[in-house]
Amino acid sequence: MAEQRLLFVCLGNICRSPAAEGVFLHLVQREGLADRFLVDSAGTGGWHAGNPPDRRMRAAASRRGIHLPSRARQIAPADLQGFDRILTMDDDNLQAVRDLARQAEAAEVAGPDGAWRLATIEPITSHCRRFQVREVPDPYYGGEAGFEHVLDLLEDACQGLLDSLRST
Ligand code: 4NP
Repeated sequence: MAEQRLLFVCLGNICRSPAAEGVFLHLVQREGLADRFLVDSAGTGGWHAGNPPDRRMRAAASRRGIHLPSRARQIAPADLQGFDRILTMDDDNLQAVRDLARQAEAAEVAGPDGAWRLATIEPITSHCRRFQVREVPDPYYGGEAGFEHVLDLLEDACQGLLDSLRST
């Protein structure tokens, strides 16, 4: 299996996408597959750039033994070429990343090998097996249960994603 480059994307890059990054890293480390993946996360907005994940998200993840190592950054058009897959959390993120892809396509910057390849863009929930949902809801303005629910969804989605990548 060639190295897979995955980018998880939400709005602020302090709650859902850093949690997805941490959950996925936790799974690949546990299964001895960490060297097969390059994993990162980003936000469609840049307000929190440089910040660690939200303290409530870190606390909820930590209760499950999951570390969230990322610092927030805003997604850029170059990410469409730098990653193989972009996994979005909700419909707004999906739309925003598709818009960026159109910009990247219009710029037509070929990769180092002269090839022109853009990341596959898909909702992370398309990999859920236990849950049937379209979006990972934004927990930012809610209570603790919202953060737990985000992690439940992400654990399901990330296991499904890893299993599907492993079988390709
Ligand atoms: P995230 O959550 O997109 O899961 O990181 C949010 C974080 C911050 C804000 C909105 C959503 N905000 O408005 O600052």
